[in-house]
Amino acid sequence: MFHYFKRWFPSKDEVLKPKMAIQQAVSLLRREYDGIPLDKESVDADPLKQFSDWFAIAVKEIKNDPNAMILGSANRDGQPATRTVLLKGFDEEGFIFYTNYESNKAKDLAENNKVSLTFYWPDLMRQIHIQGAVEKISDEMSDQYFKSRPAGSKLGAWSSKQSSVIESRDVLKENLRSFEKKFSNSEIPRPSHWGGYRVTPHRFEFWQGRLNRLHDRIVYRFEGENWVIERLSP
Ligand SMILES: Cc1cc2nc3c(=O)[nH]c(=O)nc-3n(C[C@H](O)[C@H](O)[C@H](O)COP(=O)(O)O)c2cc1C
Repeated sequence: MFHYFKRWFPSKDEVLKPKMAIQQAVSLLRREYDGIPLDKESVDADPLKQFSDWFAIAVKEIKNDPNAMILGSANRDGQPATRTVLLKGFDEEGFIFYTNYESNKAKDLAENNKVSLTFYWPDLMRQIHIQGAVEKISDEMSDQYFKSRPAGSKLGAWSSKQSSVIESRDVLKENLRSFEKKFSNSEIPRPSHWGGYRVTPHRFEFWQGRLNRLHDRIVYRFEGENWVIERLSP
């Protein structure tokens, strides 16, 4: 394999020469990917096990937010929206995250339960893309997780009407103060507008960056009662 990129791929210092406008520099930002091979034969037959293996490596190797994932939604008009949320649990039933049940994303999810999740770990040259259907988890499960959160996060959930327009940051400070007072002598309960969702997957794609942009893409799609494994062209 030719490693000719080493000759002509510029370093970040070269790209960010003071006299070069960032608009010009952006097209020079590139790197080669030389991850370890990913094959239909070497992946686990069970996509959840494969996810679990990659996720364990990400948790070990990635300094910040290895559990950050991009949640893609679309409203009833088909307008897509994406945002980052944190994965807080996964098992055979699906992938769990927590949020505000009155947020913009919650409105999308109520109109259209088809979603995607994307993990990207640049240092591992790996991406996992999941498609599935979303549903709210039980109140008991949300209560249980809410109890485990630090007091500040609990009060934050009470204080923010997520995705609504506010006049200034003072609104949040004021709300925080009033909820601190309200719950000063009692346990902070879970607000009914806050809880979890579970994404039940029907498709997984594991992407491993490889040389010359000839990346490995291994897809699992649920057909009948089985997971069918296929390789896609990069
Ligand atoms: C690293 C990171 C983690 C985040 N985790 C969450 C989360 O777990 N839940 C959440 O509601 N928002 C989380 N957010 C904020 C969301 O990206 C988003 O701004 C917010 O949920 C409002 O989105 P919406 O208006 O589409 O509903 C996170 C943002 C970042 C950058």
